[in-house]
Amino acid sequence: MKVMIMGMDGYLGWTLSMYLSGRGHDVCGVDNMSRRRNVQEIESWSATPIKSMKERLEAYKKATGRELRFYEGDLQEPSFTDLVIAKEKPDCIVHLGEIPSAPYSMIDLDHCNYTQMNNIIGTNNILFAMKKHVPECHLLKLGTMGEYGTPNVDIPEGFFEIEYRGRKDTLPFPRQPGSWYHLTKVHGTYNIMFACKIWQLRSTDIMQGVVHGVVTDDMVNDDLLTRFDFDEVWGTALNRFCAQAIIGHELTPYGRGGQTRGYLALRDSMQCLTIAIENPPDAGEYRVFNQFDECYSVNKLAEYVVKVSKEFDLDAKIWNIENPRLEAEEHYYEPDMKHLPNLGFKPTYTLEDELRITIPKLVEYKDRIEAKRQSIMPKIKWTA
Ligand SMILES: NC(=O)c1ccc[n+]([C@@H]2O[C@H](COP(=O)([O-])OP(=O)(O)OC[C@H]3O[C@@H](n4cnc5c(N)ncnc54)[C@H](O)[C@@H]3O)[C@@H](O)[C@H]2O)c1
Repeated sequence: MKVMIMGMDGYLGWTLSMYLSGRGHDVCGVDNMSRRRNVQEIESWSATPIKSMKERLEAYKKATGRELRFYEGDLQEPSFTDLVIAKEKPDCIVHLGEIPSAPYSMIDLDHCNYTQMNNIIGTNNILFAMKKHVPECHLLKLGTMGEYGTPNVDIPEGFFEIEYRGRKDTLPFPRQPGSWYHLTKVHGTYNIMFACKIWQLRSTDIMQGVVHGVVTDDMVNDDLLTRFDFDEVWGTALNRFCAQAIIGHELTPYGRGGQTRGYLALRDSMQCLTIAIENPPDAGEYRVFNQFDECYSVNKLAEYVVKVSKEFDLDAKIWNIENPRLEAEEHYYEPDMKHLPNLGFKPTYTLEDELRITIPKLVEYKDRIEAKRQSIMPKIKWTA
């Protein structure tokens, strides 16, 4: 299958490109390299020293004999997006090419608008180019479990049956996102749903949990590593905790630390995305998959990092700090996850398994984390 990966240079995009190529797919990709610039902007960097795209492609070819094709450009440019889709005519587009940071979108008006324009316009450009050149193509779009927020009821996969004033319907489950970034994902969801309805496009909208881990079997040498961010803007809570443990800084859950989310290992994310790619929906079908392995509170994540760090002689301690975000710190959280298991997904890597690989890998790059330690503690506040 010919697969085009939007956001090929990113954390998931680079990993998925290699994974799919290894399974015999013909892989090409697009990126405007903005993630690298946006991380630089807040004076941080990836703990893993990632190579330029040119070096990555060469290193991959040297290691495997296989080629990945790459186009540098901005999905916000309609003519560029149209051109690459017309040229490659992919069977599947995996759309990872968005700005994925809640704190970044909360900095100020400029960062909010940049995130919203980038994510919403980029997706629309893809939809219009698909309609024009490849109406049969499957759009696999990365949304996030964060679209749903934390309702006090179970979370279905996209849709739910409702009875209201004596009438029944199946409707989109309410979205209650917690940042300007998460809102872009909700807007994308509705735009894609609409395009499937009016143009008979087909799409899988993935509500993905937080992905963790930094190594997959394809990363046979460090030239092929993917990025690992640990600062307050681009690093997830778990990434920050790992980095803090390594440099001897207290692990800092925000607030009471009861915020619970779905998490999955990088290698399981690759498995899930591949299952979705290889089992496309029908024409006109818009389907939603919730994608995670297990749910954990932020405190629980910190406890796991403390436990596994000890195995590597790191003496980590937990220090709950004031929460810079506006979010529930204790809440009900019970999302469904049935569609992917029905297609054959089996979670394979527990959080502990993955931490036993991630932590020693990061220890190799302790100096890089130490050099940017000032970027870890939160400065961006949700409320003014
Ligand atoms: N990593 C996670 O834990 C996670 C969890 C849930 C959802 N997601 C979603 O998955 C997607 C990928 O996440 P990631 O962690 O790999 O992010 P990432 O930032 O590492 O990758 C995104 C890539 O897209 C590129 N990009 C952004 N805007 C672009 C544009 N206008 N034109 C071309 N390229 C552009 C960036 O340069 C970057 O390389 C995001 O949409 C994110 O919201 C990620």
